[in-house]
Amino acid sequence: MHIPDIIIAIDGYSSTGKSSFAKIIANEFSFLYLDSGALYRGVTLFAIENGFISEDCSIDTERLEKALDNLDLHFGEDGTYIGTRCIEQEIRSLTVADKVSPIATVPSVRAFVDKKLREAGKKKRVVMDGRDIGTTVFPDAELKIFMTADPLTRAERRAAEMLAKGEKVDIETVLKNLQERDYIDSHRETSPLTKAVDAIILDNSKMTMQEQLEWLKDLISMRFGN
Ligand code: DC
Repeated sequence: MHIPDIIIAIDGYSSTGKSSFAKIIANEFSFLYLDSGALYRGVTLFAIENGFISEDCSIDTERLEKALDNLDLHFGEDGTYIGTRCIEQEIRSLTVADKVSPIATVPSVRAFVDKKLREAGKKKRVVMDGRDIGTTVFPDAELKIFMTADPLTRAERRAAEMLAKGEKVDIETVLKNLQERDYIDSHRETSPLTKAVDAIILDNSKMTMQEQLEWLKDLISMRFGN
């Protein structure tokens, strides 16, 4: 199926399968996939390791902001990197997940990430997932999808994913973490998680990945006449 040079913005709640869906789309249409959450997670790992965020999640925003000037956070062959160090595994831990939403409320952190994303999206043919891609990062994106699913289904999916990676977790802890993140992400002052007016809702609680892809192809056909 032919698809024009567009940006596909996928936003939505935590653990709704945004990144899995975005990766499938990228593969199907030979688009570049960009995981904006990975950059927020990378900044969070950096903040934890340098003592810019405490156990109770209070943030030394001044020191963090200064340190961002020298933070070489980027995508590489095996995922997300700080300099030459691959941090892909560490950024998926519950330790990082616990602190990423507070870090993502800091305006200078958002500006740091937005700059990287806009740079990467310049050439189009990009599918990007996050919380504010269709509202703030690329408000002119040609196709915007807002993903949602029932919270327990989301917690079960995330727990299974973590278990597969060897991290032992219980459903209640995962559910609590994702509900807290949803709340913080939706209520922060800068670029809160909200559906763009022109985004199409995809509730995938009861859908397989194949069904989601079919749904998207139908949408593209209707929109772009294929
Ligand atoms: O998609 P994810 O779970 O990896 O995202 C991790 C956190 O990063 C999420 O809780 C909120 C933040 N985030 C954001 O604020 N804006 C984005 N565009 C992407 C992620």
